[in-house]
Amino acid sequence: MPAPAVIRYRRFSLADFTEVLTLWKRTEGIGLNDSDRREAIGRFLRRNPGLSFVATVRGRVIGTLLCGHDGRRGYLHHLAVARRWRRRGVGRKLVTACLEKLRTEGIPKCNLFLFSSNRTGQTFWQHLGWNIRPDLQLVQRETATASRPDCSSC
Ligand SMILES: CC(C)(COP(=O)(O)OP(=O)(O)OC[C@H]1O[C@@H](n2cnc3c(N)ncnc32)[C@H](O)[C@@H]1OP(=O)(O)O)[C@@H](O)C(=O)NCCC(=O)NCCS
Repeated sequence: MPAPAVIRYRRFSLADFTEVLTLWKRTEGIGLNDSDRREAIGRFLRRNPGLSFVATVRGRVIGTLLCGHDGRRGYLHHLAVARRWRRRGVGRKLVTACLEKLRTEGIPKCNLFLFSSNRTGQTFWQHLGWNIRPDLQLVQRETATASRPDCSSC
């Protein structure tokens, strides 16, 4: 008889990277790019120790959430729960664990990025009491293509 499926929660360590990446790749609503390579995730985890979590069943990753802060605001990235483990409170628990960590670090508010097409995500976050801010837009630029200032006086 297989062991009962107990869902456990623990810190996200870089050793989880391969499994987490596989989960992200299989999950709708998660957009991946160069910032999700192993070295970039390792840097994120080192800058934000103990703030990100994985959920596991029999040692395999079935859910994850990245969490960090810049000293002022918290940020969540890439919440994903494997399909067969959804609607059992895993997403809620991962979010609660991250917010608790942010609170203990004195961070009063947390933001996240959500594709406007992600209806499931919108329902989930609103159900958990998060506010979608239609008065804000994401403004972004690549640093590599930004024009360099004249540094003669830098
Ligand atoms: C969104 C997602 C993380 C939810 O994970 P989950 O483990 O199924 O969520 P939970 O079981 O913790 O649900 C928490 C609450 O949200 C509600 N909820 C979750 N998914 C929902 C859905 N698709 N529609 C309506 N309500 C939903 C649950 O009913 C639950 O409410 P309750 O606690 O009052 O009963 C999961 O569906 C997922 O991985 N989606 C794809 C990735 C994604 O969109 N991520 C978010 C963008 S960053």
